[in-house]
Amino acid sequence: MIDTEKGLAGIVAGQTSISTVEAAGNGLFYRGYSVEDLAEHASFEDVAYLLLYGQLPNDSELRKFKAQLHQQRQLPHALKEILELIPEDAHPMDVLRSGCSVLGCIEPELKRKQAPEIAIRLMATFPAMLLYWFHYHQDHSRIDCIGDDDSIAGHFLEMLHQHAPSKLHRRAVDVSLILYAEHEFNASTFAARVTTSTQSDFYSAITSAIGTLRGPLHGGANEAAMELLQRFDDADAAETGILDMLDRHQLVMGFGHRVYKHGDPRSPIIKQWSRKLAEDAGGMSLFNISERIEQVMMREKKMFPNLDFYSASAYHYCGIPTALFTPLFVIARTAGWAAHVIEQRSDNRLIRPRADYVGPAPRPYPKRK
Ligand code: COA
Repeated sequence: MIDTEKGLAGIVAGQTSISTVEAAGNGLFYRGYSVEDLAEHASFEDVAYLLLYGQLPNDSELRKFKAQLHQQRQLPHALKEILELIPEDAHPMDVLRSGCSVLGCIEPELKRKQAPEIAIRLMATFPAMLLYWFHYHQDHSRIDCIGDDDSIAGHFLEMLHQHAPSKLHRRAVDVSLILYAEHEFNASTFAARVTTSTQSDFYSAITSAIGTLRGPLHGGANEAAMELLQRFDDADAAETGILDMLDRHQLVMGFGHRVYKHGDPRSPIIKQWSRKLAEDAGGMSLFNISERIEQVMMREKKMFPNLDFYSASAYHYCGIPTALFTPLFVIARTAGWAAHVIEQRSDNRLIRPRADYVGPAPRPYPKRK
């Protein structure tokens, strides 16, 4: 009999110097910097550099890093052709998973030291892949994937809406990318590390991670939370609806967490942004519905919202279609996944746990007539 813990809950599966999630203190730190400080003072590009290279960039390093991200936005012609062939009703997460795989065929990883360059290439092209496919099918246009905005957040919004975003929307998405960038040994990062541990290539690790992030218990929760919010006309209807769901033992998406048991430190930050965006839009309804659900979940279940819950309304107020919420998470988390791929390679051992066998005892093969 082997000791097991369902879902590996509470199991320490390795060491990392990239981030720490403090269950008791509710803290989250990327390479020693609190997520609160990063969300207040840094840009997503600062954070991506920090995760990839281990330290914050100085002014000239940041300029160079942003220039690299800008130069790397162009999609290969063959990739554009494949994006055009992906059906318009495909899920955008499937588009990114496929796009990552195709880029890995066109520009394969030949040497291990290319890993940071490929990470930059993927962060630069994921928004372009997604929105090239999106516009090709929505309005039959082949959009320019380069753009003028020098931030990933601004570039994403500019390509989506085909005009420059407001400063508020640009910074709101930038902060959300910071919050989504890294989170220790979460399911998708662990998937990336398992793939890496077989000495597979960088693109395969990221493709595994995207497939893992897609599920509603992980990254897909922000889309599921939005679908939940849109079921209700006002806060009172939300209260009745949530009580009914709890009676029927249904999951309320965007609540609960495997590690944090007293609150997700990222949630108050994104909630504050959601409120600002609602005030700016002059329509508090979605925010009020969200806040009422938060109150009901605390009162009834002592459960708190995770990052995905208020990200849903924040993205909605920025005019982002719901199906693009989890893909935004991919763009951000690529920085964290890349850091973990590099770290796993630096001290690798194949990840291969054991299983506790509960099947039939050994038995003879039946004789056939
Ligand atoms: N809504 C209602 N009840 C919930 C809940 C939620 N969002 N999350 C957990 N619970 C309940 C479970 O049903 C379980 O109740 P029980 O003991 O009566 O069976 C209890 O709380 C413990 O939950 P458990 O499933 O053991 O937690 P976990 O650590 O395995 O799962 C999550 C963590 C995140 C997968 C889980 O909270 C969840 O599914 N949340 C919704 C999806 C989500 O927001 N995911 C994003 C995570 S960042």
